[in-house]
Amino acid sequence: MSIRFDGRVAIVTGAGGGLGRRYALDLAARGARLVVNDLGGARDGTGGSVSAAQAVVDEIVAAGGEAVANGASVTDAAAVQAMVDETVARWGKVDILINNAGILRDKSFTKMSLEDFRFVVEVHLMGSVNCTKAVWDGMRANNYGRILMTTSSTGLYGNFGQTNYGAAKAALTGFMKSLYLEGAKNNVHVNTIAPLAATRMTEDLMPAELLAKMGPETVSPAALYLVSEGAPTNVILNAGGGGFERAYVTITRGVHAGAEDLTPEFVAAQFDAISSWDGMVEPANGSGQGAMALSRG
Ligand code: NAI
Repeated sequence: MSIRFDGRVAIVTGAGGGLGRRYALDLAARGARLVVNDLGGARDGTGGSVSAAQAVVDEIVAAGGEAVANGASVTDAAAVQAMVDETVARWGKVDILINNAGILRDKSFTKMSLEDFRFVVEVHLMGSVNCTKAVWDGMRANNYGRILMTTSSTGLYGNFGQTNYGAAKAALTGFMKSLYLEGAKNNVHVNTIAPLAATRMTEDLMPAELLAKMGPETVSPAALYLVSEGAPTNVILNAGGGGFERAYVTITRGVHAGAEDLTPEFVAAQFDAISSWDGMVEPANGSGQGAMALSRG
């Protein structure tokens, strides 16, 4: 069955270029009305203009779709709230939020200033929090919402020179994992995408022949599925270059220590057994850790 978004209202942040632009074009082509948000700044988050978002709106409208541009910085909670209020005034609701806006300020941790660390956390983490907060109550009241966070391979697995970005991106999966529990009762699903695509963010980080196979159109199918009516919740999908994988936050079966074994030497001796992949599961929430420990007791 084809996946459609007729009647849905979507906000995509950072949609003036790269992945966000592709998501916005693809959602609009499948019937959604779009708020194309983008600060329009440089890759490190400096500067800004609404023209990047407006260009994508022009593309959507030229293709017969409905869209409006918004130049708010996701770091500005009041401007984000105004964007959501204007959307609700125009179209009555927000069904879909894709938290996609992002920047890079790469440096080894030794050379990184606290300001560059803080700013990257501010844009990725607090930017996503600001946007989510502004749509949350409305989605719950409407008994419908689809929210997508954007993590990255760095947030999941790490990358030299990206401690700020990795910390911010990992925080987004943590945000999802508690938020999805709070949204479940009201049909608000929360998922996370870990994209890999040729955009200005990666143009100097990957070889040209690889980039040629990794256009944003290789990521967009996963993003659209994760914000569709039939979307799962609490899922992390990795996508790029034609590959789709799922990432899990798991717990090993571990071992159980008797009272006499509660020593660091026991942990050292059992470290291989504690680390074994045999019987690994993904708990649905934090109490899974205690349940795993008690199940062996
Ligand atoms: P991009 O640089 O083309 O797009 C990011 C957009 O966000 C830009 O248009 C920028 O103007 C906008 N933006 C930046 N700060 C903003 C703010 N404060 N408020 C509103 N808009 C703002 O890069 P790309 O690759 O499309 O990135 C999209 C998302 O995907 C980002 O969150 C990025 O971290 C993530 N990502 C991308 C990967 C890739 O391979 N391209 C890999 C992993 C994650």
